[in-house]
Amino acid sequence: MGPMVGEESVQEGAAPEATWAGAGRARIELRDVHKSFGPKHVLRGLDLTVRDGDSLVILGGSGTGKSVLVQHLIGLMRPDRGSVLVDGEDLAALSSAELTTLRQRFGMSFQEGALFDSLTVFDNVGFLLERLGTMTRAEIRDRVFECLELVRLEGTAQRLPSELSGGMRRRVGFARAIAHKPEILLFDEPNTGLDPVTSAVIDELIIRMREKLHSTTVTITHDLRSAFTIATRLVLLHQGQIAAEGTPEEMQASEDGRVQQFLSGEAHGPLTDDEEAEREARRE
Ligand SMILES: Nc1ncnc2c1ncn2[C@@H]1O[C@H](COP(=O)(O)OP(=O)(O)O)[C@@H](O)[C@H]1O
Ligand SMILES: [Mg+2]
Repeated sequence: MGPMVGEESVQEGAAPEATWAGAGRARIELRDVHKSFGPKHVLRGLDLTVRDGDSLVILGGSGTGKSVLVQHLIGLMRPDRGSVLVDGEDLAALSSAELTTLRQRFGMSFQEGALFDSLTVFDNVGFLLERLGTMTRAEIRDRVFECLELVRLEGTAQRLPSELSGGMRRRVGFARAIAHKPEILLFDEPNTGLDPVTSAVIDELIIRMREKLHSTTVTITHDLRSAFTIATRLVLLHQGQIAAEGTPEEMQASEDGRVQQFLSGEAHGPLTDDEEAEREARRE
């Protein structure tokens, strides 16, 4: 947040400022990250800092590299060039055992939930807790039910994923992502395909995670209503770089034509013109 934003304006409804100890320090830093798949240059010198207590929302058209970006944050993908630092540690310098330990600071919920079909809801949510081996059975049980209650699915513990609706499965995925009390949560399109009510439940959970547990969250979403509900900061990914960033208020007031086009959902404008120009250039 810039130096122009004083105490009063924050109280008058600007993005909520993080106030707990350590808030605002860099948790994740991407520096000049490049990633290509064959001839496709997806990330092109991307710089991004995720700060403690942020609820960062990543916006961008489909296929712009949002999921690729998120996978770089936890070392599931490695940059061709540039670096990714988590709490100041360069992921490229870590052994795979160290990377596994570091990933325990994260909780992730991906598009289709990726639940284990043969495990009950209870075992899906408790899976990582079992594997970590640091909790007793009774503690795991309490924690699993606490998480299921958060997503309003207490009654489904003994069911299999196949017996649940898509929205319920997504909520199970969410419960599983938060079970080990991660400090940083990554959500890749948590609302896609959900009905408006379930979608609002997920938004509420993301906000609650940040406010009550002081989690740092990074969310990819196409749903602008949801984006502006949960974000303290938004970035627009375009042509492999962060084209614009700001608080919800700053983004809404932005005079950047790309931001305006994205927020208004116009078919024509600088976002699509750039792409056409690029296709044009490739043809030559
Ligand atoms: N593992 C992969 N192998 C090859 N191409 C990939 C891989 N992952 C992503 N891509 C390509 O990178 C581009 C960005 O993908 P993605 O990050 O999934 O976009 P989105 O912004 O919709 O999440 C797409 O063109 C996609 O086809
Ligand atoms: Mg994606």
